[in-house]
Amino acid sequence: MFNKLNTSEQKFIIDLLSRMTIEEKIGQMNQASISFAGGISLSLEELLQMLEDGRITKEEIHEMLSKSEIVYPTEGIRNGEVGSVMVRDPQKVNELQKIAVEESRLGIPLLVGFDVIHGFLSVYPIAIAEAGAFDLDLFEATAHMAAKESRAHGVNWHFAPMIDVARDARWGRVSEGPGEDPYISSEFARAKIRGLQGTGTGDYVAACPKHYVAYGACEGGLDYNTTNVSVSLLHNIYLAPFKAAVEEGAATVMASFNDLNGVPLTVNKFALKNILKEKYGFSGFVVSDANAVKECVVHGIAKDEYEAGVQAVNAGLDMDMGTAIFKDCLKQAVEDDRVSIDTINEAVTRILSVKKWLGLFENPYVDEEAAGNYISLPTEHIELTLDVAKKSIVLLKNNNNLLPICPSIKISLVGALAAKREEVVGAWALNWRVDDCVSILDGMQKTFENLMYYPCCGPEGDISSEDTENAIAYGDVIVAVIGETISMSGEGNSRADITLPGKQRQFLKKLVASGKPVVAVLMNGRPLVLDWEHENVHAMIECWHLGIQMGNAVAAVLAGDHNPSGKLVSSFPRASGQCPVYYNHPNTGRPGKKAPFTARYIDAGFEVLYPFGYGLSYTTFEFKDFQVKQELNKLIATVIIKNTGNRAGTDVVQLYMRDMTASIVRPVKELKGFSKIHLDPGEERIVQIELLKEHMGFYNNDGEYLLEDGVFQIFIGRNSRDCLSVDIDVCFEKSIFCHKNR
Ligand code: NOJ
Repeated sequence: MFNKLNTSEQKFIIDLLSRMTIEEKIGQMNQASISFAGGISLSLEELLQMLEDGRITKEEIHEMLSKSEIVYPTEGIRNGEVGSVMVRDPQKVNELQKIAVEESRLGIPLLVGFDVIHGFLSVYPIAIAEAGAFDLDLFEATAHMAAKESRAHGVNWHFAPMIDVARDARWGRVSEGPGEDPYISSEFARAKIRGLQGTGTGDYVAACPKHYVAYGACEGGLDYNTTNVSVSLLHNIYLAPFKAAVEEGAATVMASFNDLNGVPLTVNKFALKNILKEKYGFSGFVVSDANAVKECVVHGIAKDEYEAGVQAVNAGLDMDMGTAIFKDCLKQAVEDDRVSIDTINEAVTRILSVKKWLGLFENPYVDEEAAGNYISLPTEHIELTLDVAKKSIVLLKNNNNLLPICPSIKISLVGALAAKREEVVGAWALNWRVDDCVSILDGMQKTFENLMYYPCCGPEGDISSEDTENAIAYGDVIVAVIGETISMSGEGNSRADITLPGKQRQFLKKLVASGKPVVAVLMNGRPLVLDWEHENVHAMIECWHLGIQMGNAVAAVLAGDHNPSGKLVSSFPRASGQCPVYYNHPNTGRPGKKAPFTARYIDAGFEVLYPFGYGLSYTTFEFKDFQVKQELNKLIATVIIKNTGNRAGTDVVQLYMRDMTASIVRPVKELKGFSKIHLDPGEERIVQIELLKEHMGFYNNDGEYLLEDGVFQIFIGRNSRDCLSVDIDVCFEKSIFCHKNR
């Protein structure tokens, strides 16, 4: 947990600061980018710009990069003009740290940042998948594994966790975060910060929860788009995971690209200063997103780069990622009296404090031998990536218990994605090795005796009729791997139509028309519209992009070696036009029904296909005897859950609440707690979940947290739709936890 430093550490920073020139101070606030020479002599930003406006393709960039040499900002480091770099190679890290520590005037070590979103070498499931495991210890363990691997390579700062609440499946970045609910997102954030940061030294790193804030509220699900968010919505939904991350001691935070109600977060004083630093007491530092300071000119909020830099630093941004605007403009801005030296000193103190906490002044170097431990991945890392991958799989449908499949049955495995090792890792995995990746074909070949593979059709391209005919002829069951390539989700990859891309639905229609049982194995980075598939395919499992062990995890679930227990953390709409759609929506005066003049679409109804929290099992569970008891400061919900099937299984008991009368319209349900429980066949157990009364309130539009007396509905169930419920009267005045403001 990153916290304020102790007195001797503070003294160290104060003394160091007193010896720094203004250029050296501003240098600490600069994260320098690498550039390229040889094959290309352009900066990374220019290349990205060219990619963005279509002047160059990804393939061309790849080709150019392979011929060019990376140029590191060595001169800047030597001159004390660089506080941080993005590198992941231990020799290079040591080389740059040596320049910083031994050749710069004050010897201040570098922060080495990198995008390690769901694993470094041992890539585990994308966050939208992992969050569905509802397992806090697992979230923490995978984060620590990533920290261990990256720190052994010299990386000491992860741009993670990504904790943007996302309610619109069209947004490509739903893949990177823990879904649509602020409660599970907050718990996810806390666990990730614990796993990444630990004590800061040794094999831990500084975390960087991102993207602060409301990036997921982008209009129309379009990446980078504007957001319009009321104060109450901001606090109740979008800020919640960030508040949790700060409480857990996050060392840094990344400001997001978007504007919030007209003010880009890069220059948003309300969000950075008033809320994050003052209200939450955040003592780490805030870094911009890549090139975002410069983009304030494009937003039309600053007339030039100098103005953008001035606005950003005065708003509370401490480090500029990638543009050198702080480096080039802030000294002049101080001389012009546009930025006070106190503001600079505060930013630098925050940055140096993180470096001190990470132990970089004492030990800036990485043991180059340690990276050698990862030439092949440690067994325990492979086991953990497999375990989390299995626990992230969601069973969506299983007609007549078609699954699990008997290992000796004749199976036709179809779909181009099934054989692609490079497609298992998901968006924003940057450091994996293809030889560590297990494709679905690899995993299934090891598990099933009579398996034939026919690529037939993928997310792009045509359907091969010959392959399809052969597949239909061979298997007694057809397992169709369908979905999205990894470049169809993630940053910049919003989709307007979120049905299966390409000709995959047409392809499934051919398979279903054959009369053979069809199992759809979904491999995708966002909720998809699966209305036709749900009606027509016999069984479906949602596997997302599960990381390097994907193939083994999928095979274990299909063969029944693992009974699925994953849940959806994002609602699956029936039509793209339903987006944004989420379970915790406020009630309208005319809630959706089959009747006219209610909140429904005449062509898509009012319900989603699969609700938040949904996920089946190979066994069945019964919930009964739901009771809620009130104590002074909390409610205690109990329910009996029984495994009524003939297999052992795990389920997630979910507790929801609804405030029935409040001064602002409240969500129809809000997740407030959960318990994951494993039961043998026939076994039953009492599950108890507590809800503190202080957690039953909400923020109003003045940003005040209110606890309002009245009737609350308390629900318990296996998902946000199918619940038992009771109504209770709650009087907070009688509670010792009566906070009107917090
Ligand atoms: C842009 C992305 O928005 C952010 O998530 C990432 O950490 C930075 N670039 C750095 O690569």
